[in-house]
Amino acid sequence: MLERRKIIIDTDPGQDDAAAIMLAFGSPAELELLGITAVAGNVSLALTSRNARIICELCDRRDTKVFAGADKPLVRKLVTAEHVHGKTGLDGPVLDEPTMPLQDQYAVDFIVETLRSEPAGAVTLCALGPLTNVALAFQKAPDIVERVRELVMMGGGFFEGGNITPAAEFNIYVDPEAADVVFRSGVPIVMMPLDVTHRLLTRKERVKRIAEVGTPPAKAMVEMLEFFERFDVEKYGSDGGPLHDPTVIAYLLKPELFEGRNCNVEIEVKSELTAGMTVVDWWHVTDRKRNAKVIRFVDADGFFELLTERFAKI
Ligand code: RIB
Ligand code: CA
Repeated sequence: MLERRKIIIDTDPGQDDAAAIMLAFGSPAELELLGITAVAGNVSLALTSRNARIICELCDRRDTKVFAGADKPLVRKLVTAEHVHGKTGLDGPVLDEPTMPLQDQYAVDFIVETLRSEPAGAVTLCALGPLTNVALAFQKAPDIVERVRELVMMGGGFFEGGNITPAAEFNIYVDPEAADVVFRSGVPIVMMPLDVTHRLLTRKERVKRIAEVGTPPAKAMVEMLEFFERFDVEKYGSDGGPLHDPTVIAYLLKPELFEGRNCNVEIEVKSELTAGMTVVDWWHVTDRKRNAKVIRFVDADGFFELLTERFAKI
């Protein structure tokens, strides 16, 4: 078994973010969750920091520290995705408002302080939304970059194109400047782009097996997935929608499910047409630095088996 990892989850819940957080809660033997940092993305920061706490309470994990971070991108206006996630960002199940408090500390300062106080190489950053908080932390404290064990992030796309524009995936599109800071920082990156997440469809049979877990978290997750997938089912005409964010946590638990290669990745920040595009040198046609391990393939059945097995352990 892999040794227990200390992680920070940076997130913009989001039903698929919820699935990732729940996967982490179902894996206490492998993962020590130091904190959850909320960022504006799918919906406003007020809602993402609310939703993160709702997910903690749904999983009876009120002990989790939840911090609020950036309420807008580094330089651009915030673009949100209520058309996918609903007006609360967590539409689907009927869930109570959270009663657990937000931490007072600013999320960016929590990231900096944790990386400085934990041993170098001990903490993994798991980014499930726009990279604004991570970029701000790296800008505020460049010394922490080399202390990060690795940054595993969901975002970008190449062979698969984009999902918010023809060229860009949502997380990168919301804050391309933040992604540029992070991809140039030298932090070890594992990137989960649409090229891999589009192979993970919430097919009826897979959702049925999650429903059979029968617990309140699993029931709520099914209702979230049934809401969340409708947009992509309509768009792609597929059996289910792509389940993006849990790939980040699944990679920590079972890296053997995934396949990719080290590539150069650069972010388009100038062009209006292709802003937020992740240009992946998959065929190594340049000698640019290979700054990210780009994941392209996954054992989809193995992924959903892991998800279902861990949801049952929450
Ligand atoms: O493009 C998919 C990503 O954007 C996921 O992280 C989803 O939650 C949204 O944040
Ligand atoms: Ca997300």
